[in-house]
Amino acid sequence: MSELTEWAYPLAESLLAEPLPRRWQHSLGVAERARTIALVLGEDAELLEAAAVLHDIGYSPDLAKTGFHPLDGARYLRDVAQADERVVNLVAHHSCAWMEAEARGLREELEGEFPRENAHLNDALCYCDMNTTPDGTPTNPVDRVNEIAGRYGPDSLIGKFIRRAEPEILACTSRVLERVAGAKRQPM
Ligand SMILES: [Fe+2]
Repeated sequence: MSELTEWAYPLAESLLAEPLPRRWQHSLGVAERARTIALVLGEDAELLEAAAVLHDIGYSPDLAKTGFHPLDGARYLRDVAQADERVVNLVAHHSCAWMEAEARGLREELEGEFPRENAHLNDALCYCDMNTTPDGTPTNPVDRVNEIAGRYGPDSLIGKFIRRAEPEILACTSRVLERVAGAKRQPM
């Protein structure tokens, strides 16, 4: 483990494990998916894994403020945890957060406070999140989107957001899988 992941796991655990045990299992699963694509991330592998385990801390009742978890999580990481800004920015924008921000009237706030990390890393985090069930086991993005829409209801804000985000979620998954396949074709 690097310094970054050694810091990230206990922080995420302290915020999620007790109040939201299922969300914590999901976060561990997303971090596990991050390790499976480490070979396409090079020196950013640990950064992605840290962001993966922390991506949903904004749901923690200890820090939820606006009720929009990417923004709450990123603000906590920036202001309270003084986290590495790349981790902060990945959490702020995870899994097409801008679309949900738009639905909540928070897009300008989100984008004004947090610049976007490079597209490759944003794709990677979206891939990891959208290929992990709420219990932390592996899934695929089609089932994942259906599960979210079903859980919140198709007419809810999140249900509508996730349908709108679906093409982008599928596209980022294919981009990541192409990179993984390409990396595997390279001679060692
Ligand atoms: Fe999330």
